[in-house]
Amino acid sequence: MAQLLAAAWQARERAYAPYSGYAVGAALLTGDGQVVTGCNVENASYGLTCCAERVAAFQAVARGLGGWQAMAVVAQGEELPYPCGACRQVLAELAPTLTIVVANEKERAVTTMDQLLPHRFRLENEPS
Ligand code: THU
Repeated sequence: MAQLLAAAWQARERAYAPYSGYAVGAALLTGDGQVVTGCNVENASYGLTCCAERVAAFQAVARGLGGWQAMAVVAQGEELPYPCGACRQVLAELAPTLTIVVANEKERAVTTMDQLLPHRFRLENEPS
């Protein structure tokens, strides 16, 4: 867990967040033990911003890395950086049993996708 958090803090250094000033890092531990990282990437057209969690998740998909075990999400500030609603929906579909650890400079908390998003939206033809 310490290693995953360290990777997330390192990824956060590459955040592109000139509008919010809020830099986020994420690190995903895949089934074969690889760590895939992400940072938030903002845009002058604000709605195009992509969160650190989805950058990491989509990168892992693109690299063909499944069996995700845990994701660390880190940011500085008073509030722990729990994933936003959009990221919860994405992560819950791609990795329903994922463990999430969120941390700031002072504290950390561990939770699961089940706790973060019960009763997520699903389609009937979703792959199992
Ligand atoms: N952000 C994330 O990277 N992850 C979240 O779960 C919530 C928000 C980013 C998006 C934006 O660049 C900045 O934090 C402020 O919302």
